[in-house]
Amino acid sequence: MSTQTSSPTGEHLLEVDDLYVEFHTAEGVAKAINGVNFSLDEGETLAILGESGSGKSVTAQAIMGILDMPPAKIPGGRILYKGQDLLTMPEDQRRETRGPEISMIFQDALSSLNPVFPVGWQIAEMFRVHRGTNKSDAYANAVRLMERVNIPAAKERVKAYPHQFSGGMRQRIMIAMAIALDPKVLIADEPTTALDVTVQAQIMSLLQELQEEFRMGLILITHDLGVVADVADRIAVMYAGRIVERAEVSDIYARPGHPYTKGLLESIPRLDQKGQKLSAIGGLPPNLTRIPNGCAFHPRCVMAQDICHTDRPELLDVGPQRQSACHFSQEVLDA
Ligand SMILES: Nc1ncnc2c1ncn2[C@@H]1O[C@H](COP(=O)(O)OP(=O)(O)O)[C@@H](O)[C@H]1O
Ligand code: SF4
Ligand SMILES: [Mg+2]
Repeated sequence: MSTQTSSPTGEHLLEVDDLYVEFHTAEGVAKAINGVNFSLDEGETLAILGESGSGKSVTAQAIMGILDMPPAKIPGGRILYKGQDLLTMPEDQRRETRGPEISMIFQDALSSLNPVFPVGWQIAEMFRVHRGTNKSDAYANAVRLMERVNIPAAKERVKAYPHQFSGGMRQRIMIAMAIALDPKVLIADEPTTALDVTVQAQIMSLLQELQEEFRMGLILITHDLGVVADVADRIAVMYAGRIVERAEVSDIYARPGHPYTKGLLESIPRLDQKGQKLSAIGGLPPNLTRIPNGCAFHPRCVMAQDICHTDRPELLDVGPQRQSACHFSQEVLDA
């Protein structure tokens, strides 16, 4: 873990600057990302948190450059990696960043791995394609990586196929592939959602270990605030394609500054308050082709006033290293 520091040149490792993404579909234009800003430094873990449909994966796909365009369009913004805008970089140059610079782990390891090739071959391919490593060295690297992500009997299992592994072991293999080329930025998009709770905890601690060992900047995407508590340095909370609150993890837990974050926190079962009723947030996230006027959260917000129906709150400083986009942030913080 680290606190936020920028590089000697004043740059962040990764900087998403006023990003917009829309999808042009038969039902209309879905405004998936609406002016998102955040930065990530070496060795730092940023959690991006929000319910399903809030724009987390689209943000990750935009950074990786794997959005299908069309239907996606990026009408505005910059994604700076070491100061260079990935959005204006020629595609062949950008392709080179995927793997050695920025890498990603997906939720569903089974559909991300190729079922017809042994896992070791798939890991070895990373070295062969990107580094021109010869076959036996590439295989040796694959075994070493499988050992590093704690796959038992890696030497024997390097020739096994994805379906011969459990869900947790497959996710470990995905992690091995994602870190194979020593990326500086690792994006993990709901990496444990498909796994049971014990395995979730093991995968999260593996990710945390690797992040510290390789000093990667880690973006951890999740809908589960419980998952990120011990792992992340900072949290950005997304709602309807915008960041509605941004703060250090400990500050958010101690005192949320946005009604949506507060609702998410109150939905987590807490070990220290056994039997307490869970209060999930009422209602559903909006259809992004028809985002409500004013504060997009107002139809679900227990604190909404007239102004919330008409005026969109900006993401403003509400304390040291923290911002919230709510007309009544101070009341929430003081509650
Ligand atoms: N391929 C697509 N085609 C059309 N709309 C899409 C597509 N992918 C995402 N969207 C839109 O973007 C929204 C946000 O999606 P996503 O980022 O995947 O949410 P999540 O926060 O659950 O990861 C979706 O609710 C949908 O409106
Ligand atoms: S601006 Fe209004 S509706 Fe939006 S979160 Fe704050 S109180 Fe709720
Ligand atoms: Mg997603």
